[in-house]
Amino acid sequence: MERVLLLLICFLLLSQPINCSSSLSFNSSTPLCHSHQSSALLHFRNSFSVGYSSYYCDLYSYPPKNSWKMGTNCCGWDGVTCDTMTGHVIAVDLSCSRLQGPIHPNTTLFSLRHLQRLNLAYNYFYGSTISSKFGGFANMTHLNLTESSVAGNFPSEISHLSKLVSLDLSWNYYMRIETPSLKRLVQNLTHLTELVLDDVNMSSVPPNSFMNLSSSLTSLRLSDCGLKGRFPDNIFHLPNLQLLDYLYLDNNQLTGQIDEFQHDSLRYLDLSNNNLHGHLPISIAKLVSLLYLDISFNNLSGSVEQNIFTKLKSLYEVDLSHNPLLSFHTYSYNIADYTLPELQDLSLSSCNISEFPYFLKSTENLYSLDLSNNQINGSIPTWLLEVKMDSLGYLNLSYNSLARIGHLPWKNLQVLDLHSNLLEGPLPIPPLYTYFFSVSRNNLTGEIPLLICNLSSLQYLDLSYNHLSNMIPPCLGNLSNHLIDLDLQSNNLHGTIPSTFAKGCYLRSLKLNGNQLEGSLPQSLVHCKKLEVLDFGNNKINGTFPLWLENLPKLQVLILRSNNFHGAIGNPKYKFPFPNLRIIDLSHNEFHGLLPTNFFKYLKAMKNSNADKGGLKYMGDRYYQDSVTVVIKGFFLDLVKIQSLFTTIDFSNNNFEGEIPKAIGELQSLKGLNFSHNNLSGHMPPSLGNLTNLEWLDLSSNKLIGEIPIQLADLTSLAVLNLSENHLFGQIPQGKQFNTFTNDSYNGNLGLCGFPMTKACGNDEGQQLLPSSTTQEDDFKFENGFNWKVVLLGYGVGFMFGLGLGYLVFSSGKPKWLVNIVYGGRHNKKNLLDANTNSRAVMLRSLWMTAMVIKINPYPIIP
Ligand SMILES: *[C@@H]1O[C@H](CO)[C@@H](O)[C@H](O)[C@H]1NC(C)=O
Ligand SMILES: *[C@@H]1O[C@H](CO)[C@@H](O)[C@H](O)[C@H]1NC(C)=O
Ligand SMILES: *[C@@H]1O[C@H](CO)[C@@H](O)[C@H](O)[C@H]1NC(C)=O
Ligand SMILES: *[C@@H]1O[C@H](CO)[C@@H](O)[C@H](O)[C@H]1NC(C)=O
Ligand SMILES: *[C@@H]1O[C@H](CO)[C@@H](O)[C@H](O)[C@H]1NC(C)=O
Ligand SMILES: *[C@@H]1O[C@H](CO)[C@@H](O)[C@H](O)[C@H]1NC(C)=O
Ligand SMILES: *[C@@H]1O[C@H](CO)[C@@H](O)[C@H](O)[C@H]1NC(C)=O
Ligand SMILES: *[C@@H]1O[C@H](CO)[C@@H](O)[C@H](O)[C@H]1NC(C)=O
Ligand SMILES: *[C@@H]1O[C@H](CO)[C@@H](O)[C@H](O)[C@H]1NC(C)=O
Ligand SMILES: *[C@@H]1O[C@H](CO)[C@@H](O)[C@H](O)[C@H]1NC(C)=O
Ligand SMILES: *[C@@H]1O[C@H](CO)[C@@H](O)[C@H](O)[C@H]1NC(C)=O
Repeated sequence: MERVLLLLICFLLLSQPINCSSSLSFNSSTPLCHSHQSSALLHFRNSFSVGYSSYYCDLYSYPPKNSWKMGTNCCGWDGVTCDTMTGHVIAVDLSCSRLQGPIHPNTTLFSLRHLQRLNLAYNYFYGSTISSKFGGFANMTHLNLTESSVAGNFPSEISHLSKLVSLDLSWNYYMRIETPSLKRLVQNLTHLTELVLDDVNMSSVPPNSFMNLSSSLTSLRLSDCGLKGRFPDNIFHLPNLQLLDYLYLDNNQLTGQIDEFQHDSLRYLDLSNNNLHGHLPISIAKLVSLLYLDISFNNLSGSVEQNIFTKLKSLYEVDLSHNPLLSFHTYSYNIADYTLPELQDLSLSSCNISEFPYFLKSTENLYSLDLSNNQINGSIPTWLLEVKMDSLGYLNLSYNSLARIGHLPWKNLQVLDLHSNLLEGPLPIPPLYTYFFSVSRNNLTGEIPLLICNLSSLQYLDLSYNHLSNMIPPCLGNLSNHLIDLDLQSNNLHGTIPSTFAKGCYLRSLKLNGNQLEGSLPQSLVHCKKLEVLDFGNNKINGTFPLWLENLPKLQVLILRSNNFHGAIGNPKYKFPFPNLRIIDLSHNEFHGLLPTNFFKYLKAMKNSNADKGGLKYMGDRYYQDSVTVVIKGFFLDLVKIQSLFTTIDFSNNNFEGEIPKAIGELQSLKGLNFSHNNLSGHMPPSLGNLTNLEWLDLSSNKLIGEIPIQLADLTSLAVLNLSENHLFGQIPQGKQFNTFTNDSYNGNLGLCGFPMTKACGNDEGQQLLPSSTTQEDDFKFENGFNWKVVLLGYGVGFMFGLGLGYLVFSSGKPKWLVNIVYGGRHNKKNLLDANTNSRAVMLRSLWMTAMVIKINPYPIIP
């Protein structure tokens, strides 16, 4: 049809000097495709089904390639290029084409022998291996299979492609490259300028295999390849190296020292997350083209002369954080020695720094400064306060030993983190547009000034763990139309809780634990429909149970522990009261009356027994107990996996009476249940045996009678059991979990018999006493709130993933901070995710902080 049309046109234009015979093409510069090549292409493409679009492709909105139709000139198809002389197909770009399925070893693709460029990036080839037939494309110059789910061993035949200029096999996690193949490739591909192998498994390859790489190489990316061993020194001085651009070797386990640099062409240098030691090479001072320097998470040591960066006039990001032995010394106080006009982002967190680096005096475009977790003491020096850093948006000085902080002149500061220092005296007031302000864990005294209410952008205010006294300014309640988190816990605050929470209140968490607050809870909190965490524990608040909170749709945590609450709980007005509540602590008050059956029956969030099986519908994604696992595929953050969720009821140390309602057995996500120290009577309900997630159960010091229900033996998660000081009798259930409890679990019940008690029941000899175990210790933990710290911090992280994701995805390039965290976890060498609560808390908090910077950063973080 088209040809007919073309002929017709040629006929009509016959008088014109147009050559219609050599090419039957409408556009004389589009050659005509050979028919066997067009059918080979179609056949290749049609051998796949239509899969999901990769996240990367959505981002850059790749158009579908609809022009591929039988009978049309394939040289005009989207993504196909033909040689203008011969009409042979020489380039095929099927990246982001939603191809899904295996590549057959005999695929028609291999008949396109003239191919010079092939891009199959971002498809899904089901773990196909790269066939050795790829080695048959004798003239191939560009081969790109990034993130296309190819796997298996890399064929050594690729080294036949001796004209290859660019090879990108990155983000194929299941592909392996062994040493012989790599060596051949290095030897034979002498024209290579770009080699991208991020995330390809090269764990068996010694890093020096890269020693003889093509001297034309401009870009080498080997992130997270599992490379181990000595750092390949010579990579910085290959004989003819003119331009070594985009050098990324991060997330491997390279050891050794960084050799001196021989050339000044380097622009990006990323050696983060390795095990490099020794000094920072002084030749960094010569890398005048350097834009980006990241050697974070290594073991560099020694003292760096600060003028090392003096000539690096284009440098915009420096990250040397997490080198615990690295320090700086001031070479001179001559400002002429320091010029860093472009520096935007400086991170020296977790090094060995004891004073503010003097080169900050010349950084007038700084946006982000992180000096957290160092040994800086005293106050911010005057020379630094005089630097006009109008761009400074993020300042993190947490975990230092600062004693004083005056008025900060940087008027565009948005995030100010001063927590865990030794600050004394009155509360400093941050600049007007700050939206995150933390001075938690200092030694501040005096009252909270009314001035704080002028901060019209404030969203996160954390003044916890200080000695602040007097009243909470009532105007803080008025801030609730922008304030999201308010944390004033562990201070010395008196008076009543502000009562001015207005309609549209934004508060998500309000933590006032550990003060001297009195009066009753303000009913205006019902305006705060976004509330998730309410912690009023350890105060002197009086009044009855705040039943009026039952309608808050998102409330997950309610803590009233150790106050003067009294009265009965009452009956809910709504069918599903507290629909998202999963942590409730009413302990150490004067509540009395029956346990609230109607609550237990309908607490939706505690009933979802599928919570741990991935059914997170009711469980939210805010609580992380043990670890945060993040899987990323290229730019895409697939999943934030929550290991286990914390669902507890603590009504201990009150005057509750009557029986334990049967309905408690319906709260199947419950991990902890504490009804101890009340006046409960009657039998233990057998339905307790239905709480299959229960890890600790404390019903001690009540008046329970009867036998321990045999059903409890089915609670295979139960680690801590305390039934002591009751009137229970009969045989203790035997077997399974019950073999692990000692007699401490049953003391003070004169009628109980059988293992582990010495008293036998009937024939049972009951002699095999276990040595006393750690039950007491676990109990103690429980009494102290089972690591509330971790839970509440984790909550921040959940939020950050929500916030951070948006920007993360839109930043071009690798989301470095995230990758660091992920690999830190995966290699388990930075101890970021270790079992230590404190370091985890630190990590979680810094994650949260980073995410917020990412959100507000007006500049692209990565070029
Ligand atoms: C002919 O093809 C060339 C290259 O494919 C293109 O740049 C040009 O715009 C086309 N001309 C017409 C008239 O379609
Ligand atoms: C390739 O081989 C498979 C089976 O090995 C066969 O089903 C398929 O038709 C072959 N394709 C071509 C293009 O020969
Ligand atoms: C490869 O390129 C050379 C030189 O350009 C050419 O002579 C040869 O025909 C090409 N081979 C193929 C299979 O395209
Ligand atoms: C490979 O292809 C993808 C998608 O087109 C592109 O983003 C990437 O930069 C290419 N790799 C190289 C080394 O050019
Ligand atoms: C190197 O490339 C040439 C073609 O240029 C090829 O004949 C030879 O087999 C290759 N060598 C290796 C070790 O792959
Ligand atoms: C990498 O490959 C080696 C075999 O060479 C294998 O033992 C190892 O498990 C692989 N690593 C990953 C992360 O898949
Ligand atoms: C690098 O090349 C030199 C000289 O050709 C050779 O002696 C050396 O063995 C090569 N090194 C590696 C690791 O291939
Ligand atoms: C870091 O280097 C120091 C010596 O400079 C060494 O004592 C220490 O063990 C190293 N730490 C790690 C984690 O390799
Ligand atoms: C905090 O201040 C109190 C007195 O206000 C003082 O006793 C205490 O030692 C200080 N703590 C620190 C860590 O400086
Ligand atoms: C709560 O305490 C306040 C002052 O401490 C007192 O005036 C009020 O009567 C108390 N309310 C109840 C219900 O006990
Ligand atoms: C445990 O739950 C099942 C169904 O969820 C119910 O049929 C059974 O009666 C419950 N057992 C007890 C003892 O309540």
